[in-house]
Amino acid sequence: MKDFDIHSFKAILKTKYLGKEFIYFNSVDSTNDEAFRVAEEKPLNGTVVLAEVQTLGRGRGEKTWLSPYGGLWFSIILKPKISPLIISIITLLSGLAVAETIKESLNLDAKMKWPNDVLIDNLKVAGILCESEIFKNKIKKLVIGIGVNLNLDKEDIEDLDIRATSCKIESGNEVNREKFLAHFLQKFENYYSKIIFPSELESIVTKIRKIIIPIGSNVEIKTESEKLSGYAFDLANNGSLLVRIDNQIKAFTSSNIEYIRIKK
Ligand code: BTN
Repeated sequence: MKDFDIHSFKAILKTKYLGKEFIYFNSVDSTNDEAFRVAEEKPLNGTVVLAEVQTLGRGRGEKTWLSPYGGLWFSIILKPKISPLIISIITLLSGLAVAETIKESLNLDAKMKWPNDVLIDNLKVAGILCESEIFKNKIKKLVIGIGVNLNLDKEDIEDLDIRATSCKIESGNEVNREKFLAHFLQKFENYYSKIIFPSELESIVTKIRKIIIPIGSNVEIKTESEKLSGYAFDLANNGSLLVRIDNQIKAFTSSNIEYIRIKK
């Protein structure tokens, strides 16, 4: 496997602004942490920070995110002019763009598991960690951290306590990281440019609904204070999961759940 080739990546990147400012590390603590540091000094909308290896990669709920050589670990810095109330949509549309990139470039069926996972055959292949700085109800900085188990081998993931896979394991071939990232960024930029328009947002949410798990299933949800059982029946336009619990409808956001499980 070769190191990420910035030159060939830039040659194939067809975005308007996303990834034009590209910061590369051999090793960094976490690309999300680095993105926040960069955003303090040079808050360029669309900057991408990528590292071959993360020494302190983070997942949702302060879990460790294993980030060895061979994965695609990167963060995008954005300054969206949207209400903080629809930030969850950005996590979901990142997942949609990852799932579609997997489908289009590798011909593998990828799904999303609300709120932030991408799965192939029910095994986790990617995760998204969207973090923001909000001041007076305005988003000052938004960092979207994306980790794709792209070229990881079985030995890399066998000790994980979640059921995971990689694109290389599933496709049987090493995946070109530069092409994958360029494809993803173009897709993401296209969706992201539309979310400020309500009718476009609706059409993106419709696409997400088609590939999202666990809509249509009985679920167990653990929040900070309780464990609940209900039927997940839809996704609201702000990205919340709508669950029917004892004839009442509750809307869950990623920040108020610890986990969600499908009940057999
Ligand atoms: C999750 O599934 O819990 C989210 C995982 C997010 C991992 C990515 S890798 C790039 C970025 N830097 C981090 O420290 N985390 C995110």
